[in-house]
Amino acid sequence: MVKETMLIASDHAGFEMKAVIGVRLIDLGFKVLDLGTNKTGSVDYPDFAEAVALALLEGKASRGVLICGTGIGISIAANRHRHVRAALCHSATDARFARAHNDANVLALGARTTGIEIALDCLSIFMGTPFEGGRHQRRVKQYS
Ligand code: RB5
Repeated sequence: MVKETMLIASDHAGFEMKAVIGVRLIDLGFKVLDLGTNKTGSVDYPDFAEAVALALLEGKASRGVLICGTGIGISIAANRHRHVRAALCHSATDARFARAHNDANVLALGARTTGIEIALDCLSIFMGTPFEGGRHQRRVKQYS
């Protein structure tokens, strides 16, 4: 069976959480494409939002995870791209609705604001929840 590829990227603040998320994705049966950062030194989060947006556009994957300190900057930057629907999630409930109602294709996490166990819960719910479509599809189309 072909494994679905998941994109992951973060700035320095999200570097450690990205490593844990990557391992969990592999455990869940995904192939992981890590677009950096690959070091703990200070970097600019828009570069990594851009990398994931580009990889989505190129069809390298259909979903990804972006992490910065709060998840705010990196989700704002990612959402500048029309094809990206990045949802900053702080709970499994956020992650569930982000998929079911918003068809989010990027899970954004804040490494300084969300504990790792909650982040991992967000990840598994995000990966396992289908888009409900219907009236939500109409609304998503209005801004896609
Ligand atoms: C980096 O210090 C920090 O500003 C960044 O990770 C993020 O939290 C921005 O929104």
